[in-house]
Amino acid sequence: MAGDYVWIEGIPFPTTTMEDLRSMQDEFVARDEDIIIISYPKSGTNWISELIHLVHTRGDPSWVQSVVKWKRSPWLDNTFGLEDIKQQQEDPRFYTSHLPIQFFPKSIFKSKAKCVYITRNPRDILISGYYFWKAIKATKNPGSLEEYFEWFLQGNVPYGSWFDHVGGWLQMRGKENFLFMLYEELHQDIRASVEKVSQFLGTKLSPEELDSVLKNVTFQAMKDNKMSNFSLVPDIHMDHRKAHLMRKGIIGDWKNHFTVAQSEAFDKVYQEKMAGVPPGLFPWE
Ligand code: A3P
Repeated sequence: MAGDYVWIEGIPFPTTTMEDLRSMQDEFVARDEDIIIISYPKSGTNWISELIHLVHTRGDPSWVQSVVKWKRSPWLDNTFGLEDIKQQQEDPRFYTSHLPIQFFPKSIFKSKAKCVYITRNPRDILISGYYFWKAIKATKNPGSLEEYFEWFLQGNVPYGSWFDHVGGWLQMRGKENFLFMLYEELHQDIRASVEKVSQFLGTKLSPEELDSVLKNVTFQAMKDNKMSNFSLVPDIHMDHRKAHLMRKGIIGDWKNHFTVAQSEAFDKVYQEKMAGVPPGLFPWE
């Protein structure tokens, strides 16, 4: 039902319960071969997932074109996804999560599972979420962008505050089995990004395989791929008339939406919340 979040430690969760989350955290058994995609919603999760899946198949698009994304990389964050992950015998298992670090399964931190965290300019995340959540039935819809802007800054949006999410996961930077990626980096140099990810995953691609990955991770290729563009999300979860996953796929759309006052208010909160982050880490600063 729209807006019925479960609040746990001050964070609104759209698709779980306290009991399910806690038991997953304590009982889920990670494997060293697992490959985990982690993000705050609307950061480019599906883009990096597609890229990782294509690196895994060495550029062969048949997997991404025949299996829906949430079966290729099920969600750790809800019971249906979790069941799919547990049932998978073959390694590597791929799975996805929007969970803040403090809710992650404990076993993952003791394993050699590979984690790829992606983030993006939070201003663009805000705009992307503002449009996308309109279609998602489990999330609360704001009356206006002004209202959503306030919710975002307060962290009253699915998975809580972007600042806390990124701040939490940044603690993992530099660890051998953790790769920190930016949406903007994918935009700026997708070839270098694919090479970086394939090196992290230990998959050396031939020039032809790399070209095939590149061909299949473009915005248009993903938009045209019904296994990746969310058009197969059941109507009970998503109203496809209201929004699409593959919306614009650009950098800086926030500039078309924020007023000067909003831009200043955002900067102020950003500076306060991100004071401890090393300068130069993010290209939007
Ligand atoms: P916009 O709403 O700004 O267009 P997530 O996968 O985390 O939900 O993020 C969705 C955002 O990533 C959307 O942003 C979507 O368009 C963008 N995206 C997905 N695949 C992309 C691609 N191949 N190239 C560029 N942007 C992509």
